[in-house]
Amino acid sequence: MNNAAPIIKGLDVAKIREDFPILSETVYGKPLTFLDTAASAQKPKSVIEAETRLYETYYANIHRGVYKFSQDATEAYEATRETVKDFIGAAKSKECLFVRGATEGINLVAQTWGRANLKEGDEIILAELEHHSNIVPWQMVAEERGAKIRVIPMLEDGSLDMEAYAGLLNERTKMVAVAHISNSIGTLNPVKDIIRMAHSAGALVLVDGCQAAPHMKIDVQDLDADFYAFSAHKAYGPTGIGVVYGKEALLDKMPPWQGGGDMISTVTFEKTTYNDLPHKFEAGTPNIAGGIAVDEALKYITALGFDNIHAHEMALLDYATKELSAFNSLKIIGTAKEKGALISFTMEHAHPHDIGTILDRQGIAVRAGHHCAQPVMDRFGVPGTVRASFGIYNDTTDVDRLVAGLKKVTDIFG
Ligand code: ALA
Repeated sequence: MNNAAPIIKGLDVAKIREDFPILSETVYGKPLTFLDTAASAQKPKSVIEAETRLYETYYANIHRGVYKFSQDATEAYEATRETVKDFIGAAKSKECLFVRGATEGINLVAQTWGRANLKEGDEIILAELEHHSNIVPWQMVAEERGAKIRVIPMLEDGSLDMEAYAGLLNERTKMVAVAHISNSIGTLNPVKDIIRMAHSAGALVLVDGCQAAPHMKIDVQDLDADFYAFSAHKAYGPTGIGVVYGKEALLDKMPPWQGGGDMISTVTFEKTTYNDLPHKFEAGTPNIAGGIAVDEALKYITALGFDNIHAHEMALLDYATKELSAFNSLKIIGTAKEKGALISFTMEHAHPHDIGTILDRQGIAVRAGHHCAQPVMDRFGVPGTVRASFGIYNDTTDVDRLVAGLKKVTDIFG
């Protein structure tokens, strides 16, 4: 274990930690070592307080009331859409649809664009490293429409085989759906190249940006992404709200998602006409409090600066990779040159769940299992991995505690 001062490259972690009340909690009498931000990030006070402030001082349903609180809540909710637009570099806020999370966003595109555009023999390309939420929605629509799923294989280090990808693209390819960063092994995919190549073949691209949006500056226009989805809860915001971006020209042509209030323009029993973007895709009363609070989350990380966040998290990843590599019995799964802020590994003789449980007793929260990416586990021939993932509030102290915890694992399992 390294006793050097914590890496504070780019971020003042001690100050950031003061903004996250949960980080001063103890677990089994031990300080909480939270290394599961890839599953869901902890929340700063400003996010928690935004929800409380709404419920205590101006709560009302939105887009409906002529009275002050309804208008104030509507204004706050719609202000978030503007923040989201800037956060992902969209041209217009109406291209940013609020959904329950990235999973719903991907389902929305698969079920609306997919049903309207896919036909027998068409092909959808996915990557071998996808999360189940960027596999199953495509399988469902492919089955319904008679389309085929093709898969970009991974190389041994967990990066995508781009030659194989080039070979998969053809005139039948209609959609390429790919993660920006793998949630299970951390690979950062060359999405700009993936998109350029797909467009040359006449296909659209959906990017699952869950593991990227909280950690690096996203610019959907520079990427030229057709669709881009992310969840707020991984970006230090509330659960139950996320965004799917779509280019206006595509969204305009797509049929609506769910039917209900807010998504209509006129309704008679004979015929219903639909509302304009973004409301056409947002039926029913949404997650008002979540929508308002996510504004605070995105502003919080934007104020820290993505160059700073990236420098800090990459320094932490390097440090963790070096420290974990010192264990003879430990194997890092996913060693691509470009990675996000997470490290996945297995240990000889110990099942990932046993490792997770031993770490838990020491107050260390990691994720253990298949990470909703079973094809990745199959590819590497493991039942699961232990995953430590980093956020803006982690420093080398957290890695040192993880290393101490893993020494206990080796004491027990050898
Ligand atoms: N998709 C989340 C994860 O990777 C839940 O843990």
